[in-house]
Amino acid sequence: MPVSADSPSLAINGGDPVRTRPFTTWPIHDDAERDAVTAVAESGKWWRCAYSADELDIKSPDQLEGRSRVEAFEERFAKAHGAKYAVAVTNGTVALEIAMRAAGIQPGDEVITTPYTFIATSLCIMNQLAVPVYTDIDPHSYNMDASQIEGLITERTKAIIPVHFAGNPCDMRAINAVAKKHELVVIEDAAHAHGVELEGQGFAGTWGDVGCFSFQESKNVATGEGGMLLTNDKRLYDMAFSLHHLGRREGELWYKHFHQGWNARMTELTAAIGIVQLGRLFEQNARRMENSAYLCAALAELPGLEPCRNHPEIVKHSHHLQMLRYDADTSGRMSRDELIKALNAEGIPCLAGYTFPNYANPFMNSEETRSRFAAAGITLPDYAAYAERCPHTERACYSEAIWLEHRLLLGDKSDMDDIIAGFTKLLGK
Ligand SMILES: Cc1ncc(COP(=O)(O)O)c(C=O)c1O
Repeated sequence: MPVSADSPSLAINGGDPVRTRPFTTWPIHDDAERDAVTAVAESGKWWRCAYSADELDIKSPDQLEGRSRVEAFEERFAKAHGAKYAVAVTNGTVALEIAMRAAGIQPGDEVITTPYTFIATSLCIMNQLAVPVYTDIDPHSYNMDASQIEGLITERTKAIIPVHFAGNPCDMRAINAVAKKHELVVIEDAAHAHGVELEGQGFAGTWGDVGCFSFQESKNVATGEGGMLLTNDKRLYDMAFSLHHLGRREGELWYKHFHQGWNARMTELTAAIGIVQLGRLFEQNARRMENSAYLCAALAELPGLEPCRNHPEIVKHSHHLQMLRYDADTSGRMSRDELIKALNAEGIPCLAGYTFPNYANPFMNSEETRSRFAAAGITLPDYAAYAERCPHTERACYSEAIWLEHRLLLGDKSDMDDIIAGFTKLLGK
């Protein structure tokens, strides 16, 4: 007999929980992070500009002493992803904003993206007074539905921002083909996709014109706050570098500013941690992949539960989140929100994630936002109307998606077995 929602055996009703031990905590750190930060603190050189190119005496590519950690982090992050150029910045949101400006996005331009993402993806568009246009998501991957892009293109469309949600790559072949045909810029939001590789196609963040990463504390490379742009395009690199450095140009006077930029420089302390965290990334990603495969094979057997599908050509996945789809009708049990509460009571941490789509955020349709655009002669679409056009996104947000954080995948098989036991207690036969 399946357990009913009011069964006294459930921890939420006072029964014994499946698990009382904590799972792996994140971020993982040890003396390496502390030593790296201490070395920078003791050097007295806390920003990248403390280092002059003239002083540089690099004896080996691994050398950190006597050189900017920010520069070294850029070099290593670019190399790890097979990119030519990198610019380290203060966070992933600003990386996206700089990418938009560097790519020449202007007020009134339209940018096609996904509504199932963190708000930074929409903000980077709207902060240029450009207009987000949304595809629905693919119901199996939760990534943007690339087949809808072409139908949304107008003469004002300038760019596409694919988001590799949870670290699972978008359909970049389709996206790049449409972009090429219509001469659109592709800016990848790779905030979840550190060290993600497709067979024979290289790494996330290098498939479009520019890729933007986040190192916010929950991310797979964590520095508290931080971000990085990757590109293979020297012109975009020069522009992004200048924009993050208040519009300065190398070799020019310090107080001469050529572009309307930001101060978005990463600190030396942040980069010191980033270098150590990057050194842990690929081994951790491999562990997440192995645990994800084991976990998902078991969870897929439960009624009403289906793990999101991975890109078929993925060889390195970050599993920033383990995404599950839950259908209460098929399970015949509780709602998604009730299931999440019951799982947490069983000692299995999980969450609903984005509880509404980007387009449903209060500011998207507010008078304050509309009047700012109107002052520039731009009329925003009625974002409330997207609810009808994006049924898969609506379902994911309001009734279907369950997120498991990547730290859970950094444990061992017994941790996976406990997660499986928790779901099985609530959904099993
Ligand atoms: C998909 C996505 N894009 C962009 C960002 C922005 O990154 P940050 O928090 O570093 O500004 C995040 C961070 O949560 C994200 O999840």
